[in-house]
Amino acid sequence: MSILINQENGTITLHTDHTSYQMKADEIGTLLHCYYGARVPEEDLSYAVFRMNRGFSGNPYEKAAADRAYSLDTLPQELGTFGAGDYRISAVKIRHEGGDQALRLRFVKAEILPGKYALSALPASYEDGNEGCETLLVTMEDPEGSVRAELFYGVFPKKDVITRALRITNTGDAEKTLLKAAPLSLDFLEGDYDLIGFYGKWAKERVPERTVLRHGVQSFGSVRGGSSHHYNPSAILCDSSATEDYGRAWGFSFVYSGEFLLEAEKDKIDETRITLGIHPDDFSWPLAPGESFTSPEVLMTFSDQGISGISRRFHDFIRKNIVRGFWRDRRRPVLLNNWEATYFDFTGEKLVDIAKTARDLGVEMFVLDDGWFGHRNDDTCALGDWDPNEEKLQMSIAELGGKIRDLGLRFGIWFEPETISEDSDLYRAHPDWAVRIPGRLPDLSRSELILDMSRVDVQDYILRKMSSVIESAGATYVKWDFNRSVCDKYSHALPPSRQGEMAHRFVLGTYRVLEGLLSRFPELLIEGCSGGGGRFDCGMLYYTPQIWCSDNTDPIERLTIQYGTSFIYPVNTMGAHVSASPNHQTGRSTPMETRTAVAMSGTFGYELDPTKLLPAEQEEIRRGIGVFKELYETLQQGDYYRLTRPDDTGCTVWESVRKDRKEAVLTAVFDHVRANYTPVYVRLRGLKPDGKYKVSPVPGYRSADPRVPADSLIKEPVLSGSSLMNQGIFIPHYTKEYQSWQIIFSEV
Ligand code: DGJ
Repeated sequence: MSILINQENGTITLHTDHTSYQMKADEIGTLLHCYYGARVPEEDLSYAVFRMNRGFSGNPYEKAAADRAYSLDTLPQELGTFGAGDYRISAVKIRHEGGDQALRLRFVKAEILPGKYALSALPASYEDGNEGCETLLVTMEDPEGSVRAELFYGVFPKKDVITRALRITNTGDAEKTLLKAAPLSLDFLEGDYDLIGFYGKWAKERVPERTVLRHGVQSFGSVRGGSSHHYNPSAILCDSSATEDYGRAWGFSFVYSGEFLLEAEKDKIDETRITLGIHPDDFSWPLAPGESFTSPEVLMTFSDQGISGISRRFHDFIRKNIVRGFWRDRRRPVLLNNWEATYFDFTGEKLVDIAKTARDLGVEMFVLDDGWFGHRNDDTCALGDWDPNEEKLQMSIAELGGKIRDLGLRFGIWFEPETISEDSDLYRAHPDWAVRIPGRLPDLSRSELILDMSRVDVQDYILRKMSSVIESAGATYVKWDFNRSVCDKYSHALPPSRQGEMAHRFVLGTYRVLEGLLSRFPELLIEGCSGGGGRFDCGMLYYTPQIWCSDNTDPIERLTIQYGTSFIYPVNTMGAHVSASPNHQTGRSTPMETRTAVAMSGTFGYELDPTKLLPAEQEEIRRGIGVFKELYETLQQGDYYRLTRPDDTGCTVWESVRKDRKEAVLTAVFDHVRANYTPVYVRLRGLKPDGKYKVSPVPGYRSADPRVPADSLIKEPVLSGSSLMNQGIFIPHYTKEYQSWQIIFSEV
């Protein structure tokens, strides 16, 4: 039993193997949040909730005469609400029919439901086989305001993850408007914490930033339609003393791909509250009598083994309980994408030539990127016209797909379903399908307008067009791109009073099309993309097992991008390709083996024209694909450890340990050369202390370099896990700029 409702002391406790979470309704029905942290025994933890009259923190009417120490403004609560005496950040705000906005919820009941709850029309985590999941459903009501709030908690005991979703119902007899709905609202009794968020921009996504949680409110979010390059809908809160491996940390990730807001507040008495939900700026949802609104869910995890403990828990969870379907547990094909190889300049025959050479080198899938449809020869036109351009291809898409398959390759194809060009037949036929405010010139981005995915007729059109291309091309992979932020939000299908629904309905529409594609083509592999990693979140990962991590394919820049992404997301979700050198984004030249080593800690593929490579470089591709396949289990399904921080030492080092701990792979990349170099020492993690590990370079790789013979990597070629984890090793010196090493530790 992972959920315990104690009738005697009123506590409701959720247990996972290593964590506990507790709440309790107090004497006037306020649902107190008592605890979330390391697993503790069955005790009433509300003893630690300290009450005192603090002045200017008011008292609920029924308490005011007798107990001025009781205030909603200071009590830790399960769900922070707006306007009725709690002045901290709120998770729920609703405008009643009278125009007032106060909400005060009182506990009604708690029920235990078998299994993990599901959410209709929304992505949500699910139980992987028989994991012993349970759902706690807590009902609260505001009788004066006629509102019911239901909190759903999904408990994954073996994964140490608890999820939360929220349903708000209008129980009155007049329409109300929901203004804010955040499924995460978590209170802490004290507040010496740091907050780690992930900011970024196009070509530099998910840079971790750790700041002291000071008094006041810290927040980040997105009002860009999608979750965005600029802030990821995830965060880690940790003890100010926590490091990668030590200290307490709490991780949060939103299973949602739209606009979000994360807020964290340290208040007047150092209590801390963190909320995460749909961004309220573009959200208002009318609720007629009896109607409900259900929020997306938030994942929560706790680790007392530092920040990397959070990462590994999320990695395991996302791999098995978010990603689903045919490709969840399968090795994804090594692909070659033609974008950086040709951009818009190709014919069918040129593509087949590239594919043939790629096939000869071991590539397993050819992906045709942008430019195959309508009259699209640059990025100014034709989005929405999803009919193959046979004149440009000089063949039909069915013929092209056939030729690729005849080579023994899978065929994949690019779409950007949620956008429309002004210069397109679709726009000329349906101008009202574009997101535009009547009477206002729209903001264009990459010459694109947004297609109104909140409309069911638009969703059906896109699903039909995509399905027909996938079918006739025999495609088994789709790259789903989205190349701009959304503004000028307006749907011609909604009345003025309901425009506040548009942003959320847009996301629901995208999810509906993705679900439609997967139910028509259950073996289709969809790779998410938004100008690189502009929509990298657990909502998309529910439909698209991998997401193009960044348009920046420079391996040195990728060190930071993949490092930041790894705080929450596993390696096998990060789209990563070996591209040409000099790199197209930075102009930097790097060795092929470094590009290969970095892409291997991602989904692994190529994005270059192999027909233009020297034979030695082609040989490197053949070797790289072989190494990737050999190390697949360890790199893609193992436990991931960040051993250094990019920029700290000039050498970024990470380690993947196979789940049975019989093999580990260490990758080290130097990001600049220095004279009189200070050696970089790292201590390995996750090995068996008593195990003996043979230390060797990746086969057929370093030993070929006469300047660094294999046995100089380390003086003792067999060492105990204990020595490797305590004494550590030094990373062998570089012999050239941007050198990398991959070292294997295999149990003997
Ligand atoms: C942005 C993507 O991230 C690129 O990989 C490529 O598909 C282009 N769009 C095509 O327009």
